[in-house]
Amino acid sequence: MMSPDVAARALLEPIETCSQDELRHIQLERMRWSLNHAYRNVPFYRQSFDAAGVHPSDLVSLEDLARFPFTMKDDLRDNYPYGMFAVPLRDVVRVHASSGTTGRATVVGYTQNDIDTWANVMARSIRAAGGSSNDVVHVSYGYGLFTGGLGAHYGAERLGCTVIPMSGGQTERQVQLIRDFKPTIIMVTPSYMLNIADEMERQGLDPRDHSLRVGIFGAEPWTDAMRSEIEERLGIDAVDIYGLSEVIGPGVGQECVETKDGLTLWEDLFYPEIIDPETGAVLPDGEEGELVFTSLTKEAMPIIRYRTRDLTRLMPGTARTMRRMDRITGRSDDMMIIRGVNVFPSQIEERICMQGKLAPHYQIHLERDGHMDHMTILVEPRQDLGTLSTADRDAIGRDLQHHIKSYIGISAAVKVLEAGDVERSQGKAKRVVDNRPK
Ligand code: DLL
Repeated sequence: MMSPDVAARALLEPIETCSQDELRHIQLERMRWSLNHAYRNVPFYRQSFDAAGVHPSDLVSLEDLARFPFTMKDDLRDNYPYGMFAVPLRDVVRVHASSGTTGRATVVGYTQNDIDTWANVMARSIRAAGGSSNDVVHVSYGYGLFTGGLGAHYGAERLGCTVIPMSGGQTERQVQLIRDFKPTIIMVTPSYMLNIADEMERQGLDPRDHSLRVGIFGAEPWTDAMRSEIEERLGIDAVDIYGLSEVIGPGVGQECVETKDGLTLWEDLFYPEIIDPETGAVLPDGEEGELVFTSLTKEAMPIIRYRTRDLTRLMPGTARTMRRMDRITGRSDDMMIIRGVNVFPSQIEERICMQGKLAPHYQIHLERDGHMDHMTILVEPRQDLGTLSTADRDAIGRDLQHHIKSYIGISAAVKVLEAGDVERSQGKAKRVVDNRPK
């Protein structure tokens, strides 16, 4: 009989375990096609390539990609709604959009082939997370213009799973369906998973007593400390999934459950680069910088050197041939500069998780008083500690404050609210409220 590991590997697509040479060869062929497709069919790319003095025929090796200009979120906004499409609208079978906090929405489009590619790569991701056609998948990512719900849904169906299209919100009902329908996999933002766990406790249920085996968490930054918290509290494997609408949606990268060592990037479809966010220079693998993607097969909306603003580094493949990326540490525009010190919400999150008595629900408020920036962190104690006195909460707050000062180097005010009082999200958590004048 085959060992379980050998059997699991036999189910992978050949490309997941092909040689480096084969992978690079396929990438180069596809990149040539994608640059040509964008240049011929999207006026924006024609103008930006011409302005930079490059032509798709200049791409001889993968490294030549560095000669091509970047694409930014604003370029998508300026071409709202359909200006970035490379095919006539009659060939587009779906659009998604992200609302964004400022300015116009960014709109993305898919041909039927693109939808198939996305479903396949999401099926591949769920399989990497340990899923198979025997699984029942509870999808709590929002359905609608957001890519999370429908992306997860099509992938789970493609893998042959049984899908529960729950969407976000209605937390009581989420708990009821988890109890009644007995899903084995849940796909949701990590922050909302914690709300669901809180709701289980509120209903007097044990958050470890359920049918779930694996959680596929993403759409927002989270830390390894948060992973431990979720795994322990819910008794499941928690793995990271990454993606963004501009590139396709969820499923650009997925952590393999057998290694849990960062996210394998499906780079046969989305070519990654890491650049210095200040100079735009390409950095070698291993160095931290901004992640940039070029789509290799997308038809409706090819995307060339898209600057994600997400910060990470590339690492060699382990469970698959493809390279991995480290957990996203933050976004270059998420970075707070507090009296000269660069701080990411993820650093605060780590300290909160390590404190011991705090729940990982938090919000960071920034104010300006004259020329001075002030940070206030709203947190709450773990629910299972019951009602705490003001003195107890103050003591926990001082402890966190001390650790933030000594490990991150900033002075922050900490307010420990009552359990349940930090604002909750039903999708992506809002971690930073910036009230400083622009
Ligand atoms: O959030 C797609 C998605 C849905 C990914 C469900 C995973 C699961 P957008 O709304 O376009 O698409 O937001 C993309 O979210 O640039 C990152 O800043 C952030 N993000 C997504 N996944 C992760 C993750 C979806 N695993 C933006 N870790 C990206 C950290 C993430 N940040």
